[in-house]
Formats: sequence, structure tokens, C-alpha cells
Amino acid sequence: MNTVLVTGGSGYIGSHTVLQLLEQNKNVIVFDNLSNSSLESLNRVSEITGKRAEFIEGDIRDTDALGDVFSKNDIDAVIHFAGLKAVGESVEKPMLYYENNVYGTLNLCNVMAQHGCKNIIFSSSATVYGDPAALPLHEGLPTGQPTNPYGQSKLMVELILKDICNADNDWNVVLLRYFNPVGAHPSGRIGEDPNGIPNNLMPFITQVATGKLKQLSVFGDDYNTPDGTGVRDYIHVEDLANGHLKALDKIASKAGLFTCNLGTGQGYSVLDMVKTFEAASGQKIPYVIAPRRSGDVASCYADPALAAKELGWKAEKGLKEMCEDSWRWQSNNPNGY
Ligand code: NAD
Ligand code: UD1
Repeated sequence: MNTVLVTGGSGYIGSHTVLQLLEQNKNVIVFDNLSNSSLESLNRVSEITGKRAEFIEGDIRDTDALGDVFSKNDIDAVIHFAGLKAVGESVEKPMLYYENNVYGTLNLCNVMAQHGCKNIIFSSSATVYGDPAALPLHEGLPTGQPTNPYGQSKLMVELILKDICNADNDWNVVLLRYFNPVGAHPSGRIGEDPNGIPNNLMPFITQVATGKLKQLSVFGDDYNTPDGTGVRDYIHVEDLANGHLKALDKIASKAGLFTCNLGTGQGYSVLDMVKTFEAASGQKIPYVIAPRRSGDVASCYADPALAAKELGWKAEKGLKEMCEDSWRWQSNNPNGY
């Protein structure tokens, strides 16, 4: 697995993964249409590592552009991050989400098959479990009903990749179900740079801390959780990125289809996050209690045992480090890249 194509590699999780791939001396090609990222992330990855990934600006829906990349390079595996991920936008523009995330992935797989590359790691999400049937969430549980087109697109792609794998034994597919990625590289040079007002909790908190946003709205304090606020499994993006390197090893062992959670196994509430962030940053986070957000579940956290057993992977970084690193990134880059 020496030459790796990383779709969406200039984005948040992609850039942290590219950094680790370069540190492992992999030959990395990034394919990204820059619809939700900036090339500056990869410039900074080069600055940190002293190494460079090849960058190709292109869209995964563009068969010719993808074909060109595979014709010119001997690609061993694809790590497929490219996709749109804004839940609210997906409700307003479902066709865009299905076309980009579902058709885009189908197109990618077709081109891969044509060029004899049948190794892929896919960015799935804990959202495919829907409303948790049991906690912690383990991979043996049935997938549920995602509450929005973004989540549906992740579930659809999982099903498509499973069918592709079942039909042709040459494929090796790793479906990684991420829990809630937060944090940034400890240098503070790369991190999450959302467009507009953030939907997710951590970037919202960090923007309140810089003064860009006035206060946090806590979506509901009447859930059946220890303090009434929603509980999630926050995972440091560096640990998450490392899971992809382990997944490449799994692919090299010709594992066929493998589905795996990437989480810490530990749930924290919204108020735990606020308190830990305040302690880590020295900044006060004013908040108000607001109504529940539609589509939210009370609690969601992983059983990470399968990743430990099959990938030899375990999240190492705790909540304090996640908050410190998120804050270093945001305070050094208040306007992102
Ligand atoms: P991101 O938006 O920072 O990165 C996605 C990248 O894909 C961006 O650089 C964007 O420009 C690119 N892209 C989008 N559509 C493309 C297309 N058609 N062709 C080429 N490039 C395209 O998001 P992220 O947080 O790094 O997420 C990476 C992946 O992980 C996504 O598939 C996302 O759905 C999934 N995921 C993210 C989270 C999360 O909380 N961040 C959770 C679960 C799953
Ligand atoms: C959300 C998406 C999920 C997606 C994931 C990663 C929804 C319903 N779910 O997950 O599909 O895979 O992001 O992009 O949008 N919270 C607040 N105030 C805020 C923001 C969040 O109280 O301003 C709370 C939420 O109610 C939740 C927790 O913080 O309890 C985490 O929210 P968030 O970061 O948006 O992640 P998820 O809801 O888990």
C-alpha cells in the first residue's frame, strides 16, 4: 500500500490523514475539488512534515479526470473522504447530496475497477446506526434510519460498497464509522475550518471563545442523560487519522469487507464539553438552554473493541487534549485558513 489516492484530502480529516501518510513515507495523491477546503491546508502539511502530497484539483463525479489520475499513477488504495457533510444543507438540497456523495462514490468505484484498483477505505458515520438500539454501539447492531439525506447518503454508500464486495472477491473495502471528530494537529497549523456558522458543537464553542459568536445554544437539557444534555463520543482527529493507516494494513491483508467503529468508547455531555473547554482554554463560554434540535439522539457512543482487536487501533487522546488542540488551532487562526 505504497501509493495512496486520498479523495477530499485537503479537508479537515483528510489533511490530518495525509500528514500521517507522508510521515510514514507513503506516496500520496490528493484529489479534491476544493468545494469545502483550501489548498493552504496541504501547504501547511508540507511545512510540518517537510514532504509534499501531489495535488490534483478535480471532482469525483468527473470520470475523465479520475481516469487520468489512475492512468498516470499506479495506485494501491483509495482513502475516500470526498463528500458533502452539512446536515441542514442536505435537507434543503437532497439531490446535490445524493449526486455528490452517492453518484460520486459509484463513479469513483467504476474508475477504480477499470484500472484494477479494488482497495478502498470509506468515511462512514455513526449516523448510520440511527436512533441507537443499544449502547455502546457495536458493529453487530443493525443499521437504523438516518434522519436526513446526508446520513442516508452514508448508509446508501455502505450498502453499495458491501454489494460490490460481495459480487467480486478482489475488492477490499473498509467502512469506518466515525463518531464525533474534534481537535487539531498540536502545531495549531491545521484544523477544522467550517464555512459560515458551524453546525457542530466544537467549532461553535471555539468561535464563541474567540468572540466571533456571542453564545452557545445548548440544544435540550431534558434528555435521559446524567445532566440532561446530549451525550456523544468525541474523538481526536489525530487518533481518527491514525485509524486510516491501520485500515490500510487491514486492506493489505486482503480482508474483503470490514466494517468498524472509530470512537473512544467514552460519552461526554454538551455541558462536560463546555466545562472541559473552559478549563483547557481559560475562556468563558456563555450558553443558553435552547429547544432540542430535530434529528438529535440523546446518547451515542461507540464500542471500540473491534477496532482494537482487528486493527490494533485505540484512541489515545482524551477530552482535555481535544479541547486544547481545538483552541490552539482556532485562536491562532480565528478566520480559518
Ligand atoms: P471536509 O468538508 O473538511 O472534507 C471533505 C473534502 O471533500 C473537502 O475538502 C471538499 O472540498 C471535498 N469534496 C467534496 N465533494 C467533492 C467532490 N465531489 N469531488 C472532490 N472533492 C470533493 O469534511 P471532513 O470533516 O474532513 O469529512 C471527511 C469525510 O468524513 C466526509 O465524507 C464526511 O461526510 C465524513 N464524516 C465526517 C464527520 C465529521 O464530523 N467531520 C463525521 C462522520 C463522517
Ligand atoms: C452531527 C450530525 C451527524 C453528522 C455529525 C458530523 C445532526 C442531527 N447530526 O452529529 O449526522 O454525522 O454531526 O458532522 O446534525 N449541540 C448543541 N449546540 C450546538 C451544536 C451542537 O447543543 O450549537 C449538541 C447537539 O445537540 C449534540 C452535541 O452537541 O448533542 C453534538 O452535536 P454535533 O457536533 O452537531 O454532532 P452530532 O449531532 O452528533
